[in-house]
Formats: sequence, C-alpha cells, structure tokens
Amino acid sequence: MNINVAIDGPAGAGKSTIAKKLAKELSYIYVDTGAMYRAMAYYFMQNNIDSADKEKIDSVCGEIDITITHQNGEQVVLLNGDNVNGVIRQEAVGKMASCISVYPSVRSKLVDLQRQLARKESVIMDGRDIGTVVLPDAQVKIYLTASSRTRAQRRFEELCSKGVECDIDAIEKDIIERDKQDMNRKVSPLKKADDAVLLDSSNLDIEGVLAEMKRIIGEKIK
Ligand code: DC
Repeated sequence: MNINVAIDGPAGAGKSTIAKKLAKELSYIYVDTGAMYRAMAYYFMQNNIDSADKEKIDSVCGEIDITITHQNGEQVVLLNGDNVNGVIRQEAVGKMASCISVYPSVRSKLVDLQRQLARKESVIMDGRDIGTVVLPDAQVKIYLTASSRTRAQRRFEELCSKGVECDIDAIEKDIIERDKQDMNRKVSPLKKADDAVLLDSSNLDIEGVLAEMKRIIGEKIK
C-alpha cells in the first residue's frame, strides 16, 4: 500500500529541506508542489502574461506541460520538456507563483498531476493544500510553521552565506505579504487540516524538526 505524507505550511518554514531528508531516509518520493506553481509562473513571466489577466491564463493553461521526474532523489521539473529547476527559485518567480496560484485553472491542472504521483508511489508531498485538498486521505498530515521573524532570519542567513546583500526587515515584510496572499485566497487557501499535527519549528534546528517528524510519522504508521 502507498503511504502518503502531507506537509503543509507557510513559505520559509523549512518544509522542503525537511521533506527531502525524510523522503531519503524513508525511501519515499519527495514531491515539491511549490516548484510546480513556480514552473507555471515562470512560463507566464517568459510569455509576458500579467498575473491579473485571468482570461489569458485560463486560455494558455492547456499549452503548458509540467512533467515531474526524479534524478538521484532530486525532483526535476520539466516545463514543456525543459528542466527549469535552475530558474524557478528566484524570489520574483515565488511571488508570481503566489499570485497565479489563486486561479482554479492553474490549481486543477497541478492538483491532478500531484494526485497521479501519489497514486503511483509512496510520497512525502509538501505545499499549502496537500492535507486539505490534494490528499485528504493522507495517512500522515503535518502543518509545519514558524514565526515570521524566525523564517526571515533563516532566509537572511541563507542569502548572506551566498554573499547576497539583504535586509532582514524587508525579507520579513515579503514573508508576511506572501502568507497573507496564500492564506486569504478563495480557492484552497493555506490552512491546517483539522486532522494535521501542528509543528512549530521556531525553536528547533533541522535535526530537531526531523526527529519530531519521524516521531509523528512513526506514531501514525504502525
Ligand atoms: O512553497 P513555494 O514557496 O515554492 O510556493 C510558491 C507559491 O506557490 C506559494 O506562495 C503558493 C503557491 N503554492 C500553492 O498555492 N499551493 C501549493 N500546494 C504549493 C505552492
């Protein structure tokens, strides 16, 4: 039987770092659904399609092929056949992804793909609506969060380590803005599923979160 682990939470809570490690340890497939929304956003940006132009977005959704493959445990996103992993992590693409993720045409296309992946194999899937909409029957649901200041601090340290000049207050402002957008949209807003376990990582390091997640999964899957 396939096991489905759903991890939801706001931007910067550490979902992908943790989910990737967990998937490796458990030999599950890691599915990063944010990367799919980012790939769609990247397509719209490349084609100069405004995030407010719902009609245009609805009409071009059919032209976009998103395919997910895995290489050495890493998820690879193919956008109309091209590997876009290297370009979708930019801040601007994340913002655009948050804007275009409000459209049902975008969501239904990606939700179908996500469900197909979960049907085929045991997955650890992270996103915003996995426990509530995509995989409501997932055996394990975790809502991973942290304070906006903690998330900004982590992002600040990550950027500094790459030599990028940045301002922690501006990063926190962006995080709060994205939370607001993701939590208040009409379709599939970010929220904790009633049966999800809440995990606040504000005072935990990566190893601490990982240990806690393994404990939760172990309890649910006996
Ligand atoms: O997790 P991320 O930062 O890569 O996600 C980018 C945006 O995509 C996020 O701000 C909202 C959207 N998203 C979504 O609406 N539903 C998901 N399951 C995953 C991401």
